Amino acid sequence: MSLQREGWWHRLLRAARPLLARVLGWLPLRWIFEVFYWFSGDPWAYWTSARERARYDDAMRILDGRLAGRRVLEVGCSNGAFTARLVGTGAHVTAVDISLMALRRARSRVPRAAFRRLDVFAEGLPEGLFEVIVATDVLGYTDDLALLRGVRDRMVGALADGGVILLGNTKLRAEDGEGWDAFASGYPKLGATRIRAVFMERMRVVEGSEAASYRIDLLTSSSDILQGTVLDS
Ligand SMILES: C[S@@+](CC[C@H](N)C(=O)[O-])C[C@H]1O[C@@H](n2cnc3c(N)ncnc32)[C@H](O)[C@@H]1O
Repeated sequence: MSLQREGWWHRLLRAARPLLARVLGWLPLRWIFEVFYWFSGDPWAYWTSARERARYDDAMRILDGRLAGRRVLEVGCSNGAFTARLVGTGAHVTAVDISLMALRRARSRVPRAAFRRLDVFAEGLPEGLFEVIVATDVLGYTDDLALLRGVRDRMVGALADGGVILLGNTKLRAEDGEGWDAFASGYPKLGATRIRAVFMERMRVVEGSEAASYRIDLLTSSSDILQGTVLDS
């Protein structure tokens, strides 16, 4: 995530970090994101940043050939920048986010996807429906591993036979010695290494990619996946 590298309001937020940490600590997660999207329609510059485009390119390379005509769930879709990439392949995309402001922006930019508000930490997912589930930079907003395991189990339950999960997360300096320092309020609380470890309790890696700032894995819990070969367990 490039929150620390973007425009003037990021610099302002950084200067006000101690105060923000207190205020955001009291706010429910949903309202934190509503505030972010109220300040800026694209708080992480997903539609314009070359760095984010490269991360999306990496994810699309891993998903290549697995999307056209498939039912795809995107969790934490933000303002639709990656949703647009998924829709462009001919996939049938359902995209969810906790923030209504984010969804409003996503809907206006990607009319061909189905959007709905959903808190993935608290709400259920339809069983056995999706061939592909995408969750990038959305599962680190808790440090409750039991909660994360619950989300993981619901995501695995939402997969159709042979389905795959694309899991992508920012590396945290605190976990990996490289990567990102949590911004105001200490989010994200979990980084790529710890989130991946929770998913690997039930899933195997089909394909993966690692950069200095993030890690992406395509995971399955099935021995008979849609396409590709299982590499390790
Ligand atoms: C850092 S952005 C990541 C956006 C996109 N997935 C990406 O990787 O470019 C995190 C998004 O997840 C959403 N989000 C955070 N917690 C969520 C939750 N519990 N359920 C659904 N969406 C959530 C936020 O509103 C925000 O749009």
